[in-house]
Amino acid sequence: MRIVRPASMEDAPAIARIVNHWAAQGKMLFRRAEEVERSIRDFVVLQDDGEVTGCGALALYGADLAEVRSLAVLPSVQRGGGGAAIVRHLLAAAVELRVQRVFAFTYVPGFFEKLGFEVVPPETLPQKAWRDCIHCPKRTNCDEIAVLHELPASRP
Ligand SMILES: CC(C)(COP(=O)(O)OP(=O)(O)OC[C@H]1O[C@@H](n2cnc3c(N)ncnc32)[C@H](O)[C@@H]1OP(=O)(O)O)[C@@H](O)C(=O)NCCC(=O)NCCS
Repeated sequence: MRIVRPASMEDAPAIARIVNHWAAQGKMLFRRAEEVERSIRDFVVLQDDGEVTGCGALALYGADLAEVRSLAVLPSVQRGGGGAAIVRHLLAAAVELRVQRVFAFTYVPGFFEKLGFEVVPPETLPQKAWRDCIHCPKRTNCDEIAVLHELPASRP
């Protein structure tokens, strides 16, 4: 059975393993398990028959903005709908919190566009630059694409 559920502390090592598998290929940023633990309340996990097969986080920037971060699934379940299930779960959580806009910085804009995001100029999201880009080795030659989803004012 497949579910998306809030993460707990014991999921942190599995989350870090999944994220770091892709980070080693340059597809996302590395996360240490301790780092994941500190932001565990932001995370949901995808679980297939008891095994954690994917993860994603919704990081809050304030009333009007949140970010989908650390989104990844195991290679063995790629293209099986798991990534979309995680993002839909995070978007529903954002609507529940009355957050108005959700963004991501990504190498897979086509995946996000299928979920209702639109490509936007990165400079329209200066909040991201202040939180993360200042620490990023790629800050002067960032090749990630910014995508944004405007959310409905009412709950789904
Ligand atoms: C990106 C990722 C999370 C997508 O998850 P997934 O489970 O493989 O994707 P899904 O099966 O849910 O795909 C949902 C839809 O997006 C499409 N899609 C998936 N990956 C895509 C891509 N790279 N480019 C364009 N469309 C894509 C699928 O075909 C599917 O379309 P459909 O609804 O018409 O069938 C996953 O491939 C992954 O972990 N990649 C490596 C890490 C990464 O790049 N993370 C993103 C960081 S922002």
